[in-house]
Amino acid sequence: MILGIDTSCDDTGVGLVALPAGGRAEVRANRIWSQVVHARYGGVMPELASREHVERIDAVMQDALAEAGAGVGDIGAVAATAGPGLVGALLVGLMYGKGLAQGLGVPFYAAHHLEGHIFAAASEAELEAPYLALVVSGGHTHLFDVAAAGEYRLIGATRDDAAGEAFDKIARLAGLGYPGGPAISEAARRGDPKGVAFKEPMLGQAGYDFSFSGLKTAALLAHRAGASGEDLAASFQAVAVKHLLKVTRRAAADLGRRTVVVSGGVAANAALREAFGASGLQAVFPSQGLNTDNGAMIALAGAAAMRAGRPPSRLDAGAAAYVPLANVDG
Ligand SMILES: Nc1ncnc2c1ncn2[C@@H]1O[C@H](COP(=O)(O)OP(=O)(O)OP(=O)(O)O)[C@@H](O)[C@H]1O
Ligand SMILES: [Mg+2]
Repeated sequence: MILGIDTSCDDTGVGLVALPAGGRAEVRANRIWSQVVHARYGGVMPELASREHVERIDAVMQDALAEAGAGVGDIGAVAATAGPGLVGALLVGLMYGKGLAQGLGVPFYAAHHLEGHIFAAASEAELEAPYLALVVSGGHTHLFDVAAAGEYRLIGATRDDAAGEAFDKIARLAGLGYPGGPAISEAARRGDPKGVAFKEPMLGQAGYDFSFSGLKTAALLAHRAGASGEDLAASFQAVAVKHLLKVTRRAAADLGRRTVVVSGGVAANAALREAFGASGLQAVFPSQGLNTDNGAMIALAGAAAMRAGRPPSRLDAGAAAYVPLANVDG
């Protein structure tokens, strides 16, 4: 089995996947400790995140082994996120993973957080290049063209806020609670998607970039003008999904891609899944529970690296706040 660790932000995640000879990797465990210490600050406090990871990681790993019905002796390789993320937080999982790999005498893989998000979808289907990968999370709205396995070309990204960030900020201003994504999709069920007239971002613009800050401003103005939280949620969700789909579709048509992997926290959104599912594209999503940060996605990325014959990482591999996935990543 391959053990995957993600401590890039405020979730301590440990997952285990089995890699049967010739078969598809299977998730055997996925344990996450979501830190609550940050709630009173309204944002993640990096130093507190690191300390919590130190305190929790061992218990989360024991829980993951128990969930898989496995012992440390069943671990054949270890993968841990090395970046991007909060450096102090990353270091905890990275050092823990390296120590474990060294102690067990098994290969270690330093993983890229976004490659992990993409490979979360390998829980549902074998990812066979070529495909497009849309990562929509709290910090990223990145569209990659993957012409061949492991070759990521960034073809578009948000010019301002990430999609998940917009969900969070609009939920906060509408008083819908935190985290914003689930709060918005819940409130949207009771709202009118045409209740607030949002203008679709970047209309008439070429290329594959995204933008969400205009929607945020429009939401603020509509809120001040008395729009209900439910209508704001339904209308924002509708326009955000439309925007994400339209740009992705254009890229797929231009590049001749049929398959789109959609991952990251926003990929949990039911309206987004429905729209991509009905788009004519072959959309692949992570299993529910693997959209937001987790360790299983890092184990899946590690499994893919092993399958591809990628050499293990050196044990002096460092953590970094910013690491491009593609050489042109922004
Ligand atoms: N059902 C949902 N609908 C829309 N957005 C959602 C939903 N569930 C979660 N999200 C959003 O997903 C985001 C969190 O996703 P994730 O954990 O992948 O991001 P992150 O790790 O914070 O960012 P990054 O991976 O870019 O560093 C939050 O912004 C949250 O609001
Ligand atoms: Mg993430």
